Amino acid sequence: MGKIKISAGFRIILFVLGFILVAAQKIPTTLDGPFEPVTQRFDSSLRLGSDDLPMDHPRLKRNVTGMFPEQIALALSTPTSMWISWITGDAQIGLNVTALDPSTVASEVWYGKESGKYTMNKTGVSLVYNQLYPYEGLWNYTSGIIHHVRIEGLEPETKYYYKCGDSSLAAVSEEFVFETLPLPSPNKYPPRIAVVGDLGLTSNSSTTIDHLTSNDPAIILMVGDLTYANQYLTTGGKGASCFSCQFPDAPIRETYQPRWDGWGRFMEPLISRVPMMVVEGNHEIEPQAAGVTFKSYLSRFSVPSNESGSNSNFYYSFDAGGAHFIMLGAYTDYNQTGIQYAWLKDDLHKIDRSVTPWVVAAWHPPWYNSYSSHYQEFECMRLQMEELLYQYGIDIVFSGHVS
Ligand SMILES: [Fe+2]
Repeated sequence: MGKIKISAGFRIILFVLGFILVAAQKIPTTLDGPFEPVTQRFDSSLRLGSDDLPMDHPRLKRNVTGMFPEQIALALSTPTSMWISWITGDAQIGLNVTALDPSTVASEVWYGKESGKYTMNKTGVSLVYNQLYPYEGLWNYTSGIIHHVRIEGLEPETKYYYKCGDSSLAAVSEEFVFETLPLPSPNKYPPRIAVVGDLGLTSNSSTTIDHLTSNDPAIILMVGDLTYANQYLTTGGKGASCFSCQFPDAPIRETYQPRWDGWGRFMEPLISRVPMMVVEGNHEIEPQAAGVTFKSYLSRFSVPSNESGSNSNFYYSFDAGGAHFIMLGAYTDYNQTGIQYAWLKDDLHKIDRSVTPWVVAAWHPPWYNSYSSHYQEFECMRLQMEELLYQYGIDIVFSGHVS
């Protein structure tokens, strides 16, 4: 087949013409909204699920023993500080479990700007959580010891090397490295921002994370539904394909918490060097006895809640270069009379658009979607909050939930 040849001069003319055409069209912003939502029919050929990765998969298997750190993860705290989290000790699952004592192992991080030279160190807090199902045939879970340390005094756009663990137990991790983001400024931005939701722990999740990693993001927004521990094939501990058939008397659905540990290991190669900002989805609710919810989500992840004045891990905000990010909680009170709304109003009011011209908001369930299972599911949240977001000219919204 013959090729159409276009001379270099003609290409330049085409480029200039294209530029003039684009420049002539005013690109609307959210300040011009609200607009009629634009939807596109879902391509059903993409509706191909994939199997859960088994617990003995190399990316999920526990490769350390005793109090050696594992599941190491980063999250932004402020532009000059970072959260480092990890887990030590054996989680247990069964009918009788005994919680580990967090005071038996220290939470220490050593860090500095040169590999092998740690000029600074910080200590933090540790905790365990239980997932208890006091019903016939269901299993209980108690976590390993979860550590959260906030390291401070970081310079922007700088590489830091760190180790974490307990030096008195000779249980210290290998060295990891991360790069800090630019300070809030209209002229500096994270080079790449990854946005992912509804990730799970299947072979499709591997494809997603491998693709995401190959794109070398500076930060990750994880917009809810992380692990799907409440849907694992062995929920009930007995391979229950139909939970309600096998456990007709269980008043709640049991989760399989070791999936969270598998997920922490699966994510570690990426999130031990790139900060991940989480917000809760419906799969993080995980109801237990006595109305306890969100135990795993609240215990495992650090977020800048106090730093952003929200004092709640369900919603918070942070800056990354010239962008202000607001993570909203859809599974907590979002009404105009509630504390989240009051915080949101305050947070929006405080934004200085000459410092952070871009404002991005994220929450798990989209307000607009045509997916039959979740159609208009969060219309109440939209009615409560949408006007405020328009009022302050939010530029971009990210959600998950309808994949
Ligand atoms: Fe969801």
